[in-house]
Amino acid sequence: MPGKRLLAHYKIDPRRGRLLMVACNAEDMLLPRSHFTFYGQLAIASTNHAFSIRSSKKKNHIERQFDAHFDLVQKREFVVPDHLMIHDWAFTDTHYILLGNRIKLDIPGSLLALTGTHPMIAALAVDPSRQSTPVYLLPRSPETEAGGRDWSVPIEAPSQMWSVHVGNAFEEANRRGGLDVRLHMSSCSYQWFHFHRMFGYNWHHKKLDPSFMNAAKGKEWLPRLVQVAIELDRTGECRRCSVRRLSDQHARPADFPAINPSYANQRNRFVYAGAASGSRRFLPYFPFDSVVKVDVSDGSARWWSTDGRKFVGEPVFVPTGGGEDGGYVLLVEYAVSKHRCHLVVLDAKKIGTENALVAKLEVPKNLTFPMGFHGFWGDE
Ligand SMILES: [Fe+2]
Repeated sequence: MPGKRLLAHYKIDPRRGRLLMVACNAEDMLLPRSHFTFYGQLAIASTNHAFSIRSSKKKNHIERQFDAHFDLVQKREFVVPDHLMIHDWAFTDTHYILLGNRIKLDIPGSLLALTGTHPMIAALAVDPSRQSTPVYLLPRSPETEAGGRDWSVPIEAPSQMWSVHVGNAFEEANRRGGLDVRLHMSSCSYQWFHFHRMFGYNWHHKKLDPSFMNAAKGKEWLPRLVQVAIELDRTGECRRCSVRRLSDQHARPADFPAINPSYANQRNRFVYAGAASGSRRFLPYFPFDSVVKVDVSDGSARWWSTDGRKFVGEPVFVPTGGGEDGGYVLLVEYAVSKHRCHLVVLDAKKIGTENALVAKLEVPKNLTFPMGFHGFWGDE
């Protein structure tokens, strides 16, 4: 793999048995264009995978597929004519999906970065000049590209949101002979997102300052769960794009959406996320103290919350069978007063009831990590 900057988030495509990753060029951070390279690698080795070897070169992409003896089975390159920052992304059966966070050069910040007194991120600022969110649907195959729309033109979602994390995306055939695309994700406002104080990290003092993460001047500024719905017609043109809250019952800040990974890339009913209960007088929104389980089918929500001065990170779903919510939700809980972490195991079906807690396991003291974000469960 060439020396590029890998995006933090990777995906598993269970239908094809592939590990999907995205890389971009490091210099894109400073330029009004963005190179994205998508890599598909076999995550489940199988001799049944019979990929033909072929290569086609067009203006802005190279696509290659190899047989199962090679790790890399697909590579797609796209040049998007926009100044974007991408943290997380999504895929459906036929498309990679990027929700563009618009950025621009910050001239005073650039000068400070050049002096070495400020981090390089100070050279960037959010670009709130447009009141919509660009959604790029990038074809996963040349066949999709040939029969579809111009991928370099984004769909403009009708609200300005800074996309943070995607829990799931899927597509289904619609009555127009086209596709309905859904994304379940978290987003915050451009007004709230601030490069100089990202994640509340005070680089002057090298300490976290969660008070910044609680600075909410408006109701919808902090990260929250939303659904983006896109309707494409048979030619691939967008007929409608809407953004709405994922749950009417849960309007408080939430992030790190997760689902049963067996349902990745297909219609899912349940989304789990780290959330704020709103019960704390100080730091009411972040760090999170709850996990919320949203039923997307009716917008209802249930919670499990810590007690006392404890925080939780990202939920991870471990399927055990028995339906979409058959499994455990794992999360790391941090007890501030003891400076200790516990691995919390919840019965996903029972979240919202008194007996949702299955086990709480003490994490060895040398592994304490107060503000864990992302995790992964691997079966053996
Ligand atoms: Fe992330």
